[in-house]
Amino acid sequence: MFGARCLLRALRSCSSAPCPRHKLSAKLSVRDALGAQNASGERVKVQGWIRSVRSQKEVLFLHVNDGSSLESLQVVADSSFDSRELTFGSSVEVQGQLVKSLSKRQNVELKAEKIEVVGNCDAKAFPFKYKERHPLEYLRQYPHLRCRTNVQGSILRVRSEATAAIHSFFKDSGFVHIHTPVITSNDCEGAGELFQVKPSSKIKVPEENFFNIPVFLTVSGQLHLEVMSGAFTQVFTFGPTFRAENSQSRRHLAEFYMVEAEISFLESLQDLMQVMEGLFKTTTMTVLSNCPEDVELCHKFIAPGQKIRTYAKKQLSNWGADLHTEHEKYLVKHCGDIPVFVINYPLALKPFYMRDNEDSPQHTVAAVDLLVPGVGELFGGSLREERYHFLEQRLARSGLTEAYQWYLDLRRFGSVPHGGFGMGFERCLQCILGIDNIKDVIPFPRFTHSCLL
Ligand code: 4AD
Ligand code: MG
Repeated sequence: MFGARCLLRALRSCSSAPCPRHKLSAKLSVRDALGAQNASGERVKVQGWIRSVRSQKEVLFLHVNDGSSLESLQVVADSSFDSRELTFGSSVEVQGQLVKSLSKRQNVELKAEKIEVVGNCDAKAFPFKYKERHPLEYLRQYPHLRCRTNVQGSILRVRSEATAAIHSFFKDSGFVHIHTPVITSNDCEGAGELFQVKPSSKIKVPEENFFNIPVFLTVSGQLHLEVMSGAFTQVFTFGPTFRAENSQSRRHLAEFYMVEAEISFLESLQDLMQVMEGLFKTTTMTVLSNCPEDVELCHKFIAPGQKIRTYAKKQLSNWGADLHTEHEKYLVKHCGDIPVFVINYPLALKPFYMRDNEDSPQHTVAAVDLLVPGVGELFGGSLREERYHFLEQRLARSGLTEAYQWYLDLRRFGSVPHGGFGMGFERCLQCILGIDNIKDVIPFPRFTHSCLL
């Protein structure tokens, strides 16, 4: 074993050593090529997939895309380069000179000196056709290929940008990132929408099952975050979450990504709502300013298809009954199609961990949902019950006392007022991009009766 000083020295020298370079390469992404300020004939190499081929008498035009931007790079070649292998969808490597384009459509183009087809594409059998705008439902049948279309490219670039924005928001606000487990023995929400995890075949373990107790895919990392908030004050997690909801709706998935935060020494819903609002606004603003073309494509080509429904004024629901999707939509519309916070839900509707408002006869808990246009519920959060005796009674009433001794312990050893929330990441993307169906904002959607690939 290394001594600590030895280890540090070794780590420093490893990480500062220059990476070996085999050969100088002028390889450019399409994005960088398009953004080149002074394109004056420098020799570069670009790799990607052909999005269009136009062959004229003396010139050949190709558009090449590598996923780095919505816009493709125009390649101009002598007609002698024309070949039957240069088809829509085939992969190519092009070497040539980056020059200013004479056309107003693009600033730069690549004057080809060498074009190599890396992989052929049988354009007739390829499910997407040149210049056709395929409906999103159609693209869903091809989860292994749909990322090559313009619209899926835009959505997935925005998804990547939004992920980075969320991490930056929490880092800049002093939160610690926690990896909460995917496999767990708790049902945080108590709704019984659990996928059980078992070994696929009978393996030899003395006990009845692998972990000795039944275990599940997590429905929420909240309870683990609450553990961590007892040491780090402000924590967050961002990972896959699983719900066995029998729903094919346009806003439910069996596997979705949730952003969750937990904050200690927090005493009011107002303070919690401020963080929720900050997260949603920062994510939206970052996406709008970093991916304007991708957002515009989604808004221009997809949003107009959405039906905007009108609702007559009505009583939302009887006191004590839960809000349904149509109630949520009505509320958002009623408030002028803007995000709306709804607070203080009936205690009987909510999980054991939410803080009792002690406001009989209504008897509510300090819960908060954020409803947004086009989607409905985007965030769910609450103050947590930090008072030992209140929590003990709630657990006893639900028959959970034994299983949640560890959770009660958190209230025995240095308990603090705290609260947190979860935001459905796919619903957030739906809202920003105006995408009607949640299955189109996740690379590989999983839902009832469907788990392709
Ligand atoms: O409201 P939920 O169930 O809250 C919790 O799980 C809390 N434990 C979170 C917390 O306080 N740390 O879920 C949070 C959000 C919802 O508002 C919704 O946006 C999203 O997760 N969500 C789903 N998204 C897609 N498909 C599903 N089946 C979803 N279920 C919930
Ligand atoms: Mg909820």
